[in-house]
Amino acid sequence: MKKINLLSVLVAFTVVFLSSCGGGGTTETTETKEEPKQEVKETAKSPYDAQMELGAKLYTEKCVACHQADAKGIPNAFPPLAGSDYLLADPKRGIHQTLNGSHEEMVVNGATYNAPMTPQVKTKEEALAVINYVLVHFNGYNQDQLLKMEDIADIEINPMQINQPAQ
Ligand code: HEC
Repeated sequence: MKKINLLSVLVAFTVVFLSSCGGGGTTETTETKEEPKQEVKETAKSPYDAQMELGAKLYTEKCVACHQADAKGIPNAFPPLAGSDYLLADPKRGIHQTLNGSHEEMVVNGATYNAPMTPQVKTKEEALAVINYVLVHFNGYNQDQLLKMEDIADIEINPMQINQPAQ
């Protein structure tokens, strides 16, 4: 019993000793003082603005080459995303195609397309951002008309293996 008591006294002493030595508390105070300044610098971005920003970035990086900067596509090769009756009839299908690719004959605004599109993005966040961006910027949708994560919860990410030209 005595041994145990001695031990606990030692432990208690060490704790007190260490915490008093952790007088580094002074440096911590200096650090916390600087934080509010940084917070002020960061402009609060709404989830909508953040999504549009990501969508614009993805569109420029990944879609422009085929669907073009004005999203009007290239006749007989790449279908339009601006004013596309096919996309607007079912934007959720557009999320699926962006994630998993598309290889089927489709009629878009009266023209038939049948070239494959490889999967373009890896996550639902990205697919949602780029399709919502297309809906807002090229099809005049407003914020309330956009797809939400829960609307696409049942979409499975299962990228198509589309034969690419030999590299
Ligand atoms: C390498 C060229 C290429 C790239 C890059 C590309 N697409 Fe496509 N896209 C196509 C082709 C070809 C089709 C037609 C596919 C078919 O017939 O199955 C298509 C079809 C579509 C469709 C359905 C048809 C329509 O016009 O509404 C959507 C939506 C779409 N693409 C979205 C995107 C998005 C979003 C991106 C960028 C993240 C993208 N595509 C990048 C070539 C491309």
